[in-house]
Amino acid sequence: MRIYQMKNYDEMSRKAADLIAAQVIVKPDAVLGLATGSTPLGAYRLLIERYQKNELDFSEICSVNLDEYMGLSAANAQSYAYFMRSNFFDSINILPENTHIPNGLEEDTVLECDRYERVIGALGGIDLQILGIGGNGHIGFNEPGDAFIPETHCVELAASTIQANARFFASRGEVPTAAYTMGIRSILQAKSIVLMASGKAKAKALYRALRGPITPALPASVLQLHGNLSVVADEEALSDIKATSTDKLP
Ligand code: F6R
Repeated sequence: MRIYQMKNYDEMSRKAADLIAAQVIVKPDAVLGLATGSTPLGAYRLLIERYQKNELDFSEICSVNLDEYMGLSAANAQSYAYFMRSNFFDSINILPENTHIPNGLEEDTVLECDRYERVIGALGGIDLQILGIGGNGHIGFNEPGDAFIPETHCVELAASTIQANARFFASRGEVPTAAYTMGIRSILQAKSIVLMASGKAKAKALYRALRGPITPALPASVLQLHGNLSVVADEEALSDIKATSTDKLP
């Protein structure tokens, strides 16, 4: 595990953008696993800037997103499909047909989960997976539970997740209560993972993820098993963690 301790959100975003850009340059047809939420927004902005300066080419890049709310269409402004288009995809030259996200409108959960597993499989897995972390330790929408769920599944969102995400909706009552999420296996099979975290609100979850026992009660703790994990986090998010000699703190 490498830990990049960055000063603040902007520095965290710059480092994450550097790591993603390096992947795009080294492997122009890479498969990127992408996240939504506040955490990666700054990195996406910086990647757009680099694309606009002709430093990056996404024409052969494919993407698979971690998750999507159930019941929201891709045209709904609160959907993750819309988020990805408006905050990233529409401003770079990635081909729409190369971007993948669960279909929130598919009510047949078995069908949709199978479809998404086949999409990931057909792409040959993920080269670089970007992750944020929930205050309760979720990754994607793999919520705390009794077992790690390996494959794409439909999940009832934890009350704390609904509360945390209410900031994107007009009211708490409008936040969908269920979502599709990529499972732990596809995340762990990614060749490399960049876990991003910013702010004091993430400090406890990040500490438990990196230093606590590996347990489905804190899904991000499973990342300790990954051989190529980069944690890119700011000082506030890392405030509960002391570096050990096996970590790198640039
Ligand atoms: C979003 C996702 C979630 C978020 C997490 C943190 O696609 O997979 O796991 O990464 O909820 O959200 P923010 O970044 O908004 O704090």
